[in-house]
Amino acid sequence: MRAAEISDDLTDILVTEEQIREKLSEVAAQVAVDYDGKDLLLVGVLKGAVMVMADFARALPMHAPMDWMAVSSYGTSTKSSGVVQIRKDLDTDLHDKHVLIVEDIIDSGLTLHWLLENFASRGAASIEIFSLLRKPDAAKVEVPCKYVGFDIPNDFVVGYGLDYAERYRNLRDVAVLAPHVYA
Ligand code: XMP
Ligand code: MG
Repeated sequence: MRAAEISDDLTDILVTEEQIREKLSEVAAQVAVDYDGKDLLLVGVLKGAVMVMADFARALPMHAPMDWMAVSSYGTSTKSSGVVQIRKDLDTDLHDKHVLIVEDIIDSGLTLHWLLENFASRGAASIEIFSLLRKPDAAKVEVPCKYVGFDIPNDFVVGYGLDYAERYRNLRDVAVLAPHVYA
């Protein structure tokens, strides 16, 4: 669905489907140059990164196996608890792989900070991050993110994989959720 179809639930539309598509092809072109000749593994963080992974992987002009990790620090609230739980681990041995973590959003940064430490102990040749969205004003820890799609304000956003209580993931755009929805 498009933002216009559920406009009562949203305030601003921050990033449109068209802007996302354009950005993904830019980042994919850069990644293809940076990883030329390397054994690349894309690691998606479920469930938020499903949409960005699906579109980004297809924009890449190179082989890019995917694996998935499910972690959780959120529940149905709109604030990070900072406590990370592994719900599903990777199937792949990271040894000698060039890992590119594909994320929907860096908010507090706590989840990725934890994931980077966790992956560092598994023998990867390199570990970098691509996050479609980032909230610079919400950072609680610095996370080195090599590829960033869009910096956005510190509001709770939904769409393009991002949910509130499992809704809005199938929204094609990224938009600010109206406070009356979660108040
Ligand atoms: P941080 O960086 O705070 O984010 O550890 C962890 C995960 O929480 C989700 N997240 C959001 N989901 N709207 C959402 O729908 C948001 O504004 C938002 N901020 C964080 C997201 O899955 C992220 O990976
Ligand atoms: Mg996520």
